[in-house]
Amino acid sequence: MNDQAAQLREIVKKSPSYDTMTGPMAKIITITSGKGGVGKSNTVINIALSLRNLGKKVIILDADLGLANIEVLLGIIPDYNLSNVLNGKKNILEIIEQNEDGISFISGGSGIRELMFLTQDQITHFANSIAELEKIADFILIDTSAGITEAVLSFCKLAHEVVFITTPEPTSITDAYALIKTFQGQYGEDLPLFKLLINKSETANEAQQVYTKLSSVCKHFLSIDIQYMGFIPFDYNIMRAAKLQKPISKCYPKSSASIAYQNIAESLIEVTVGKDDVSQKNNFFKQVINMFVKK
Ligand SMILES: Nc1ncnc2c1ncn2[C@@H]1O[C@H](COP(=O)(O)OP(=O)(O)OP(=O)(O)O)[C@@H](O)[C@H]1O
Ligand SMILES: [Mg+2]
Repeated sequence: MNDQAAQLREIVKKSPSYDTMTGPMAKIITITSGKGGVGKSNTVINIALSLRNLGKKVIILDADLGLANIEVLLGIIPDYNLSNVLNGKKNILEIIEQNEDGISFISGGSGIRELMFLTQDQITHFANSIAELEKIADFILIDTSAGITEAVLSFCKLAHEVVFITTPEPTSITDAYALIKTFQGQYGEDLPLFKLLINKSETANEAQQVYTKLSSVCKHFLSIDIQYMGFIPFDYNIMRAAKLQKPISKCYPKSSASIAYQNIAESLIEVTVGKDDVSQKNNFFKQVINMFVKK
């Protein structure tokens, strides 16, 4: 550990958030993809709504650089974003926005880009802020941009689970593989749990085949195990809901995609993080610090 990192850890240990960090903490799930437009943002808002309907506290962090998908899909113009926390003008709890269904989210704004160029004081401030979130939520869902960028890899690194979304299209599958390969190359064996969600699938069988192909290639060439998270069928109602700027689970709760989102939300609640995993990973705060001091 270099001097700068050691100094930072000292600052962090002395902070009030570090001492008070007890009890159950949020499960952090990063949703990402190699190719764009595969359905990340829609998945995030609909799983968030399903989890909320199941009584869970969920916060979405929109980490998609400047594109602000979540607020558009929810039809909200946020007053603040992560930049306001980084420049010290707001507390993280003050920038959480809520839509009419109680879906909570934080707009990344340009703050996500700024995260990559923080000073030590700002890192400490950001880490303390994020620790506040971890204490008040059951789930933190991070919606990333598509593709292999430093920011995406960092947000994958700090999650308990990374959900890779692909459609059955070959380019989407090969881009997913490229992202997984880059991730493994950067982080070696210290990997979060990887899951694959197949979106816009015509049948369950087609989705299963995509999973079998991609997971066996990852196993063979990268020695990575990927769990099957399930599939979301192609459903025109998603586009109809998007035009209304509402989640499909709200507008068309009986539609095939809404039922699939509901099943995925239920499976997320059923699976509990293993004990070892909790002790190593269940501290967003420390993960955030690691994310920056490794550079
Ligand atoms: N299961 C589905 N069936 C039909 N259309 C879908 C489905 N899922 C998503 N879509 C449509 O695909 C498009 C992309 O969805 P979305 O914005 O959620 O993807 P994304 O991965 O977040 O995109 P980006 O990479 O640009 O952030 C939208 O037009 C959306 O309505
Ligand atoms: Mg998106």
